[in-house]
Amino acid sequence: MRYSHFSFGLLLLVWSCLPSAIQAQYDPIPAIIPAPVSVEMEQGRYSWHEFAGIASPPTSKLFTNVQHIYDELFQLGVPVDKYGNHFLEFELDTLIRANPEAYQLVIEPKSITIRAGTDQGLLYGYITLLQTMVKDSIDGKFYSPCLIINDAPRFAYRGMHLDVCRHFFPVSFVKTYIDYLAMYKFNTFHWHLTEDQGWRIEIKRYPKLTDIGAWRSETLVGHFSDQPQTYDGTPHGGFYTQEEIRDVISYATKKGITIIPEIEMPGHALAALAAYPELSCTGGPFTPATTWGVFDDVFCTREETITFLKNVLDEVIDLFPGPFIHIGGDECPKTRWKTCVVCQQNIRDHGLADEHELQSWFVRQIEAHLNSRGRRLIGWDEILEGGLAPDATVMSWRGTAGGEAAAALGHQVIMTPGKPCYFDHYQSKRPDQPIAIGGFNPLVAVYDWDPIPEGLTTSFHPMIIGGQGNVWTEYMSTEQQVEYMIFPRLAALAETLWTPAEKKDYDSFLDRLDSHQMRWKAADINFFHYYR
Ligand code: ACM
Ligand code: ZN
Repeated sequence: MRYSHFSFGLLLLVWSCLPSAIQAQYDPIPAIIPAPVSVEMEQGRYSWHEFAGIASPPTSKLFTNVQHIYDELFQLGVPVDKYGNHFLEFELDTLIRANPEAYQLVIEPKSITIRAGTDQGLLYGYITLLQTMVKDSIDGKFYSPCLIINDAPRFAYRGMHLDVCRHFFPVSFVKTYIDYLAMYKFNTFHWHLTEDQGWRIEIKRYPKLTDIGAWRSETLVGHFSDQPQTYDGTPHGGFYTQEEIRDVISYATKKGITIIPEIEMPGHALAALAAYPELSCTGGPFTPATTWGVFDDVFCTREETITFLKNVLDEVIDLFPGPFIHIGGDECPKTRWKTCVVCQQNIRDHGLADEHELQSWFVRQIEAHLNSRGRRLIGWDEILEGGLAPDATVMSWRGTAGGEAAAALGHQVIMTPGKPCYFDHYQSKRPDQPIAIGGFNPLVAVYDWDPIPEGLTTSFHPMIIGGQGNVWTEYMSTEQQVEYMIFPRLAALAETLWTPAEKKDYDSFLDRLDSHQMRWKAADINFFHYYR
């Protein structure tokens, strides 16, 4: 019998407009990405055309309003047959507690039950259910095969990052991006909001950050190394109002996604310095950067600058409810600090050995401020240099050494090494690839990656809380280009972060990827088509 695969994107508007007649060889084992911990196939199938309703609305926040589930099913062409006898039941089951994201999905001929200990678990059961649906190309009706799935993620932190500074992306695309993460069971969106090239978050107390800092006069054309360098002569910019940020946070919460905002300090600060040059060592003047790289002008460690940053963070904390605030900390040249009277005086006054310890001193003050407001600090692995702040979580990007050192010191670590977690690198050596920053991170490298570094002492493994894909947008000026760089690598990363290492199988992943690629095509996503 031939079936056509059915869109699984009920949660996602972008998926719900899928044409339903995509032909595919029927495979009774559904193409679920990331692969669940255990799938037991049973006899029979559930007929969605007899779907009569949601049997027992759970006492859960995510599912109190079950109307949206009906709406989503309806959008996909599943009618509710009030005379039918097939139900979909959500149960908050305190027995499924070992992992707060665990769920059980049981599909029987006349009922579907999703059990979980938390809202997040129910959501994941529902997302998996959507991936089981296929449309029978003979009778045109929707079915899910009978099965029992028991599932829970391997890592608690499953993140994707997006740089909205090198190029600005509107709220509509940020929401679409969040949809993509939700469909692959990521739980964290790292929103990189400030940079040399643009400051993207409204701060009421400092309006010039966005009046001036959100706009650059023009942008480098082509590759950084091209000679001579040329510029497009076109202003570029944009920012999110606090109202828009609240709207995005509320949207992400409904999709089970926590947002980590990143406010970069003390480096990557030119856009802020363009707005308030008195925060620098030299006094400026500055303009938001029009090219890429690392710039010598950074935040000064003077008291006024630290007060400014604490005030900015206060507004960020008031907006974002999540536990973590990312403060950057990467790529901060010490050139200006070395000749700044105030920075040098700080080194002497506080008995610091050098400018690295000065950065550490600076980060510790910021951490104390975040902690006093009930939040925790995350920084890139440079925050290890000169001494790590007491409770800091480290994002290891320059390989894994920083993460391993932090884990050994008892700090939580998120692994995001350039190889293979930088999705701004090339994914193919084909000559038709659009310009990228460099590097080579093919799909298989993402799939084969283990966030726990080989040789890391076993007792430190629990400190590695997960991993993340990073999307720096120097060479991604359009939404389509971002899609091209994340698909299909995001699906491979999802499986790497969710599925037990011993259950991973690249051939099986590629089989399942075929049907996901068909769905992406139907949803008009501009993905890199992976052919074996
Ligand atoms: C980084 O890529 N500079 C964290
Ligand atoms: Zn200074």
